[in-house]
Amino acid sequence: MKKNILLIGGEGYIGSVTALYLLSKGYKVTSYDNLIFNNNHSVLSKKYNQNFKFIFGDLQNQKLLKKVIIENNIKVIVLLAGLVGDPITKKYPKYSKIINDYLVSKTINLVKKIKLDNFIFVSTCSNYGLITDDVIADENFYLKPLSLYAKSKVRAEKTILKSTSNKFYRPTILRFATAFGISPRMRFDLTVNEFTREMFLNKKIDVYDPDTWRPYCHVLDFARAIQKVFESDISKTTFEVFNVGNSINNATKRMIIDLIKSKIDDSKANYLRNSNDKRNYRVDFSKIEKKLSFQTKYSIEYGIDEILNFLKDGFFDKKLVNKNEYGNYFLK
Ligand SMILES: NC(=O)c1ccc[n+]([C@@H]2O[C@H](COP(=O)([O-])OP(=O)(O)OC[C@H]3O[C@@H](n4cnc5c(N)ncnc54)[C@H](O)[C@@H]3O)[C@@H](O)[C@H]2O)c1
Repeated sequence: MKKNILLIGGEGYIGSVTALYLLSKGYKVTSYDNLIFNNNHSVLSKKYNQNFKFIFGDLQNQKLLKKVIIENNIKVIVLLAGLVGDPITKKYPKYSKIINDYLVSKTINLVKKIKLDNFIFVSTCSNYGLITDDVIADENFYLKPLSLYAKSKVRAEKTILKSTSNKFYRPTILRFATAFGISPRMRFDLTVNEFTREMFLNKKIDVYDPDTWRPYCHVLDFARAIQKVFESDISKTTFEVFNVGNSINNATKRMIIDLIKSKIDDSKANYLRNSNDKRNYRVDFSKIEKKLSFQTKYSIEYGIDEILNFLKDGFFDKKLVNKNEYGNYFLK
């Protein structure tokens, strides 16, 4: 029988794609989320009422969370929940501290006492911060988080890697690249998605620091990586940290813009300097490839085409005017 998977933060941009993906592979999925944005959770509930369960719950309610884990015979927990991204944590520093530090750490300590097959914590390549162009960061690279968001992730990673006497505590940390692609809970505040939408709608865009590097990864590849971790032998994953992405998807903003421009007639970009976001990093993804035989499937160009097709089909029409519904801009 397939395992029961708990996605904490399962209604988010990455969580909802992961839920759909795991359901399509025959897993039972429980999603625990307090819907801090206008998440579209009904999509999943209606489609998969047999194997999918949505629990409206806050990380704050640890009693409920524990009950959900036990009553649903959960074998794998994936912790995705949080206040996600530099801008929103900067805007709500108090909530950032409460959710990303206090509640995440409480949840990690709860997980440390439970018998599970796997605990997967979703972290970020933003932890590498600002590094020079001639270096590519692997998992042992010095962490230099610049934002409140990444600083909390680094603290959480440290808490996770502290051992316990529970031999069923089997944590894996996944440092995700910046995501792109279509999700039931769409985010247009992420670089590839945002640039594609802006250029599709307005044909021109302001781009700050076009030559800064970042790694990108399609949301579906994150879902595949999560599955890969809990289907692998625990000796390969326990207390391990993996970057998730692909070196061919390390790109500058200019490279992304050039790709989009090649698909939209007469589109233009206005290049500017000195944004507040100083991040610049390229990342090495060979560990997950070698150790878990994991390869991503989707290129940045695939993601751009996918978004353009959705936009052309009018999929987001109704709410395109209300940008705030499609990203981590404001809390509900
Ligand atoms: N999107 C990216 O580019 C990216 C890149 C690297 C890492 N990550 C990580 O992946 C994970 C998911 O990111 P995302 O893009 O899907 O973000 P998201 O904001 O779309 O999803 C986060 C989810 O967590 C839920 N949540 C927040 N606080 C909660 C609480 N107190 N209790 C219960 N649920 C709560 C929200 O309602 C939301 O559904 C995060 O941990 C993020 O740090 C994302």
